[in-house]
Amino acid sequence: MSRIEGRDKVTGAARYAYEFPVENVAYASAVTSTIACGEIEAVHAAEVLAMPGVLGVLSCENAPRLTRDDQDGELNVFQSRRVSYRGQLVAAVIAETSETAREAARVLRVDYRDERAPSLRLRSPAETQDEEPHGDTVEMGDPDAAFASAAVQLDATYRTPPEHNNPMEPHATLACWDGDRKLTVYDSNQGPSRVQSTLARLFELDKSDVRVIAQHVGGGFGSKGTPRPHVVLAAMAARAVGRPVRFAVTRQQMFAITGYRSPTAQRVRLGADRNGHLTVLVHESNEQTSTVRDFAEEAIKPSRVMYRAPNRRLAGRLARLDVPSTSWMRAPGEASGMYALECAMDELARTLDLDPIELRIRNEPENDPTSGHPFSSRNLIGCLREGASRFGWGSPTPSYTGLGVAASTYPANRAPSQAMARRDGNGHYTVRIAAVDIGTGARTALTRVAAEALGVEPSAVTLELGDSAFPKAPLAGGSTGTASWGTAVVRACEKLLAEPDAREALADTADEIKNEPDYSRHAFGAHFAEVTVDPVTGEIRVPRLLGVYAVGRVIDPVLARSQFIGGMTMGLGMALTEHTVFDRDGGFVNTDLAQYHVPACADVLSIDAFWLDEDDADLNPIAAKGIGEIGIVGTAAAIANAVHDATGVRFRDLPLTPQTVL
Ligand code: MOS
Repeated sequence: MSRIEGRDKVTGAARYAYEFPVENVAYASAVTSTIACGEIEAVHAAEVLAMPGVLGVLSCENAPRLTRDDQDGELNVFQSRRVSYRGQLVAAVIAETSETAREAARVLRVDYRDERAPSLRLRSPAETQDEEPHGDTVEMGDPDAAFASAAVQLDATYRTPPEHNNPMEPHATLACWDGDRKLTVYDSNQGPSRVQSTLARLFELDKSDVRVIAQHVGGGFGSKGTPRPHVVLAAMAARAVGRPVRFAVTRQQMFAITGYRSPTAQRVRLGADRNGHLTVLVHESNEQTSTVRDFAEEAIKPSRVMYRAPNRRLAGRLARLDVPSTSWMRAPGEASGMYALECAMDELARTLDLDPIELRIRNEPENDPTSGHPFSSRNLIGCLREGASRFGWGSPTPSYTGLGVAASTYPANRAPSQAMARRDGNGHYTVRIAAVDIGTGARTALTRVAAEALGVEPSAVTLELGDSAFPKAPLAGGSTGTASWGTAVVRACEKLLAEPDAREALADTADEIKNEPDYSRHAFGAHFAEVTVDPVTGEIRVPRLLGVYAVGRVIDPVLARSQFIGGMTMGLGMALTEHTVFDRDGGFVNTDLAQYHVPACADVLSIDAFWLDEDDADLNPIAAKGIGEIGIVGTAAAIANAVHDATGVRFRDLPLTPQTVL
């Protein structure tokens, strides 16, 4: 089965948020702060209002009051004179054309006062224990004593830099008011229901009077996971001028206002006996956010489920700096955390002179080592063995060539969802759900899930999503989409089949999910990398990348493979090229694709993904674990471990650019 909307996308028929045709549309363009810390003294709106075609200027000086969001201060658009970081939204110009709006935004003068030097430095756990603790810390046994008395010790600090999601479609909204109380937005996001409830709350509207449409989304990776400020700005601008307004965040502006992966400074301490049995695992991670949004990367998360160490300390600390707000980027926590943990395991294996796969096998836990719950299924060792055999693990390599391996893991969670199934007659069905397809192929996967539940061919099912008017659904995030939405789709279809006379059936999975038994549910995988290092230029190439996964049942092999190799490609970027650089004011310097380097075709030579059959009845009715994120988890560690194999040198700070390696 090919991707349902594939033809629409390649022929240009698929409409993205910015493109919906509306009458009398106006355009907004954003102005962002040029200082990191201080206050807005004045916005010289009159000067640009005099320009032909300019319809309005919005800023803290005239913006209508919104209900405050205390969790995510980014949504309090133009509600304060305070400037919290460089690149923050400070004003918007609305004009007849996008060109006029952009030019007026460029020339709009904003004066600042009380500017002070920003606090920008993220310290490592070895330097400070003063930062605010966050997340679920773990303290088991006596980690300090166990480490001090361990026969073999490893104590290393790993650093990952700020990294940015770069979906092909930057964040964009088309906002249309019907009077002053009814709002429709065409918006690029990962969860229409969530955007709907957020807009209703901020603008004090009835939820039923807010409609959020997201038919096609050109990638998100987490950056569109919760509503971002652009959608608030667009709604405010449209109301201010009494016309529909299109607002697209520019690629450059995205870097500051739609989030990024926090840099991390992670200290890992491993203690083991001479046979490589871990006695202690200490994983501490310092991370950052802004002063306006609560957000933590939580790199220590994967260390909850990895390895059988009886003494364990997992501690995350959060620095609130004068920088843009951090947010979700594919596998937040797991991607950065498994970089550190899986490099540390490789270092320990070298110290013990033990094969790194064998070290992992010796430390495989029977149950979840932190919660004690049984795993619903755990096939890490199967993935390592299958990968080793497919990859030719252990074969000798020429000089400056090396092989590396790392484990991967990602939780298999579900969130409550609703879905509706309807008989259309003539054996055809329609299924509706406020899910969203951010490019993953969700529309296609859910069509298959519905067809299977109804016992019909996929062609007999029309799956409609991307509209908050459909039954409420959780967002496309945390690799939970297919399992959450799929459970609701199956239940709606089952309910419809159980009522032969009913025209439609609505399912809600809230109770089912609340009452699920206590299993530790996680996907596992193994990543293998071959690298070559040029000893003259320091350039690293990755001729081969292989991933093997155990992810429950795979719903659609073509889509799954794309998710895996897409994640691995992002892992390749994380390892070698991706790095956003702060200037002295805490603004990002390299804010475009010419300077922020995501892997291109020439960087990805041979990349492949396989999966083991896994029959896990304790997950959900479709027996599937999420697959969107596991591909990036551990990939950078496999590459870094291969670089060590090639050079004999351990580089612990990402990315491994020529400057680092030389
Ligand atoms: Mo993804 S970072 O869970 O949207």
